[in-house]
Amino acid sequence: MKLKYSLISRRTFLNTLFGSWLFALFSGSFYALIKFAFPTVGKEPDFVVLKLKDYVDIPNNSVKPFTWGNVLGLYLKKEDGSIMALKGVCTHMECNVAYKPDEKKFYCACHQGWFDDTGQNIAGPPPRPLETFDVIVEGEKLIIAKKGVQVELPKA
Ligand code: FES
Repeated sequence: MKLKYSLISRRTFLNTLFGSWLFALFSGSFYALIKFAFPTVGKEPDFVVLKLKDYVDIPNNSVKPFTWGNVLGLYLKKEDGSIMALKGVCTHMECNVAYKPDEKKFYCACHQGWFDDTGQNIAGPPPRPLETFDVIVEGEKLIIAKKGVQVELPKA
């Protein structure tokens, strides 16, 4: 079937096509330029340094959040007083997890994923354990580092 007349003019069609092409071209270039200018944006740190006094007195069986790059980190003080730090991001589809003190487990509400208090995935869709970090106390500083990373702070 052939239409007697078009709903859009040839000029409108070509302008839209050309405009879309220009947008695609410049958005790709702009993204590359931003990545070149700010190479560390979006990358995870090897370690973060926190104030020990802000974390040492949290109650047993509780967590306190910290910023790990641009994602959630969780400092956990277990029931027995032992401590650990984890990335608070679910290994399924990267939702934030929350600590459930009553059950002593981490819960991901996105798809009902569960992790035990060591970060092991125990139920639901998460395929891997939560990422855990090394916790180092150095004077008044609490250093949370990727597993195996040697931390050397500059001398003051
Ligand atoms: S994102 Fe956590 S269970 Fe799916």
